[in-house]
Amino acid sequence: MEISAIPRVRLPGPVQTLWSFARPDEFFERMTARHGRTFEMSWYPFGRTIVTSDQRVVRDLFTRYGDSGPIGMRTIPGNLAHMLGQHPINTTDGAAHVAARRKQLAFFKQMLLSARIGEDRLRDSLDRALSAKPEREPFSFRDLIEVVVLEALLGDGLDVRPGPERDQLVAAGHSWVSSGVHPLLLDSNAERIAGRFSRARARFTSAEADLDRLLHAEVLRHEDCGNNGTTRCVIRMALDETADWMPEDPVGATVSYLKAVILGGYYTTGATTAWTLLLLLRTPPALAAVREELAAGSTTLLEGAVRESLRLCPPDQLAVVRVTNSECELGPHRFPANVTIAVNARTLHLDESIYEAPREFRPDRFVGRKRPAHEWLPFGGGIRRCLGEALGIERSVSILAAVLSRFTLQPVHAELEPTRWHGFVHSPKYGAEVMRV
Ligand code: HEM
Repeated sequence: MEISAIPRVRLPGPVQTLWSFARPDEFFERMTARHGRTFEMSWYPFGRTIVTSDQRVVRDLFTRYGDSGPIGMRTIPGNLAHMLGQHPINTTDGAAHVAARRKQLAFFKQMLLSARIGEDRLRDSLDRALSAKPEREPFSFRDLIEVVVLEALLGDGLDVRPGPERDQLVAAGHSWVSSGVHPLLLDSNAERIAGRFSRARARFTSAEADLDRLLHAEVLRHEDCGNNGTTRCVIRMALDETADWMPEDPVGATVSYLKAVILGGYYTTGATTAWTLLLLLRTPPALAAVREELAAGSTTLLEGAVRESLRLCPPDQLAVVRVTNSECELGPHRFPANVTIAVNARTLHLDESIYEAPREFRPDRFVGRKRPAHEWLPFGGGIRRCLGEALGIERSVSILAAVLSRFTLQPVHAELEPTRWHGFVHSPKYGAEVMRV
């Protein structure tokens, strides 16, 4: 394949960063229209960054190179470590990362199983939360379900027993993610830069201290849990695993791990569910078909709707971020060493050569059909692909099945809400504002 040069965005660096954070859909679509599917931009916090939505580049990224090595990719060093603490899933590359992932599989399978067992409880808490909303009064569906998702993640997913401690954990997890986890804090330079945002930083630090303390106490409560049968204690599993890896502080390492699960699973699932609801409410034939299928006891089309919503409105638009170890070729381009490569999932998902009528919401695109990672990547891909994919989709499907079978909701805004940052995810601007009718 002939090698072609990578064009560069010619706007001042701060303008590029601010525009891409404030109006991500507009920025990345305009830059792609102007420069093509691969272009270089200056982007805080990652500096010199090459953004791509070219499926040829992405295919090579996932298949040609490993996670490390002389010609390879590595994740951003220590990117999340300052927030999450030390755990190999967040802080390592190469063999150590692969080994950590392998160990995690049992943990994630158990979380999925426990979540399925807790489905009735999830339905009850949604019923309570939605029934309390007066008819014709607008509310944010995303904010309502976020709390339910976090409760379910801690309760059924991680076996945190009901009671005041769990309520405190839900509140602390929520203020940690909502108060401080802002894209500008999501890098290893946070300490240096955050000084400039001292109020935000202070809120974040205090929320984090509360969460760490409560999680620490919770982990200690699980030290004696048994590990048998179908309802294995997930926190105890994490403790066993971290005891091998960090014998000097398995409790601290488990706390970091649980924070990664909260951070990775909570806002992402909330935003996915909120976007799917909005898209369904705006597409009456799809909504009717989903309802009909739910009445017949099937969720196949609803799951297709969740996957289609992840295509049109991925909560993490820059789903894959890697740094090159050395010069390498991907698709029709040569990439220099030590640059950040960021794959824009949303722009790639709008590629007409992959999807017919790409801006239309068509849940049946994903019924009985799986797409390879270079065509559909809301969960990233390759060796760092999201470990919570099955759980995230299962949660969104269960929540929407419960809501759509019992309640009639109407969107408040005539147009689909634009994308805005919410914590660290791309979410509907008004939080998916709806009302009961
Ligand atoms: C719909 C919901 C979700 C979305 C859209 C999502 C998206 C992502 C993305 C884009 C990545 C980065 C992948 C890459 O770099 O190639 C990721 C990684 C990860 N996610 Fe998720 N996620 C979701 C749900 C969850 C849940 C529910 C959990 C845990 C309970 C979770 C845990 C993780 C972990 C541990 C990683 C790091 C994997 C690694 O580095 O090896 N995610 N996720």
